[in-house]
Parts: sequence; C-alpha cells; structure tokens
Amino acid sequence: MKVIYTDKSQIIASKVAENLGAPLGEVKLSRFPDNEIYLRADGLDDQTVIVSSLPDAESIVELLLLIDACEGSEVTLVIPYMAYARQDKRFNAGEPISIRAIAAAISRGVHRIITVNIHEPEVLKYFSVPAENISIAPAIGDYLDGTWIENPLILAPDDGAWAFAQGVASAHGWDCDHLDKTRLSGVEVKIKEKNLNVAGRHVVIVDDIISTGGTLATAAQMLVAEGAESISAACVHGVFSGGGYARLVTAGFSSVASSDTIERGCSLISAAPAIAEALRR
Ligand code: R5P
Repeated sequence: MKVIYTDKSQIIASKVAENLGAPLGEVKLSRFPDNEIYLRADGLDDQTVIVSSLPDAESIVELLLLIDACEGSEVTLVIPYMAYARQDKRFNAGEPISIRAIAAAISRGVHRIITVNIHEPEVLKYFSVPAENISIAPAIGDYLDGTWIENPLILAPDDGAWAFAQGVASAHGWDCDHLDKTRLSGVEVKIKEKNLNVAGRHVVIVDDIISTGGTLATAAQMLVAEGAESISAACVHGVFSGGGYARLVTAGFSSVASSDTIERGCSLISAAPAIAEALRR
C-alpha cells in the first residue's frame, strides 16, 4: 500500500504514511503553458491511499486528475477537509447542493472514502462508494491537556457542535456546555445571552470549523463580559478566511489552535493518527 497526496496535503499525508508504516509515493506536479495542472504519480501500488484535503477548487481538479492517474489500483480516498460541505441543501431556489455535486464527481474511480469531522455526516450519502466520517475530538482534548490551560470549561458555540465538545471534554472530566447561535449572514452571527458562570474560568471554545471567526469573536464578547479568566479556541478545520485568525486575536483569544486537515502555522493537532487507525480497520 502506498500513500500519495495532492499538493496542499503533503504534510498530513507524510504523517499518515508514518503512522501506517507505509511508503509515501511521489507525485510530480507542474503546469501546462495555459496553467492547466499536469501531474504524474510514480510507482503506483495495487492499493493506494490518496490523502487530499479540498480547501479550494484547484485542489478538487488536482484530486480528480490524481484519481484518474490511479486507474488499476484500489484507491482509498482520505479527505481531511471537505470543502463545499456546508452547502448541503438548497437554501434558495436555483442553488446547487454543492456537496452532492462534488461528492458525485470524486466518487468515480475510488473504492472507499474517509472524511474527518465533515460538517454534516448526513452528506456522506452523496458519495456513491462506502464512506465513513471520523472525529478527532479526542485528539483535541489530548492536545489541550498538554497546554497551560488548567481545568478548562469546554464550550460549543451552538448545539450542533455540542456532541463534538463533549468528545473533547469527556476523557478528561472537564465541564462542557454550549451556546445558542443564530446565523444572520455569511459573516454575522447572534449569540443568545446565557448565564454560564464563566467568572474566573479558562474557557475553550471548540468547533468543527473556524471560517471567518465571526462565531467565536461574537461568543468571546459575551464571555469577557461575564468575567471569563481567559478564552482560547481549538478547531478541526482552520479555514480563517478574510482575516479570520487575526479577528480572533483582536477579539482577545489567548490561543488559537487548529488541526492539520488544513496546513497552517497554528496546526498544533494532527488528524493523522486517527486517520491511520481508520485505514487499518
Ligand atoms: C457552523 O455550524 C460551524 O460549526 C461553524 O460554527 C461555522 O461554520 C463557523 O463559521 P465562522 O467562523 O465564519 O463564524
């Protein structure tokens, strides 16, 4: 079995290979004069693991080409970060169900798919091959356990992230609660007042994804007003669009950590051990 990767997933793919004890293949990538992607995967095996986060449209095209290049090999596709997963229904007439379109396209030529904390696991039904979603909530808990943050209160920004927050807190016996969020627009959210008794507590807000940072920045305002000692953030997918990371720093977060499903300077948690474990099953 060989592990290969698309360009933006080289680091996580290397760690998956290391955890599996499998060789890492080489994928040569360049551009045609008109900027189209050229790639070549050398020395393919009978079984191939492709590790490919999809943070942008280019990565999706690159993945489609890589799957096609693997013809003749049994491909397990690992998608640490699945873009377009939040447009999982037709909110207004005339819109696509984006995740359905992308899932259908990348299922062709693949034997099995593994995703990591996909926004809504229900969407796995749009893949036409067996698909499984894993959660790295325990890895986030273990990471927090090794930081300076003593006895944190783990907080989900909405009830959708409540089970995830419990997955972070449970093995360590930490307190855990959730806020109630209403989304007003792509960048604006409203968080309902809630008496949480955060005075003097180190609060860690955890979420599957930080995109613009709007959700967490709004939550922080309320927590500061209620006397939290410190506020930190930890998430699986650090998208940080439109200055999202800086927005959190400005909002007073003491620390912000994400996983390596999207490779960032603050990728302090690795999803690779959990991915390797799922691949071994
Ligand atoms: C929404 O349900 C997700 O779990 C996140 O809370 C949301 O996508 C974060 O987006 P933003 O950082 O733009 O507020």
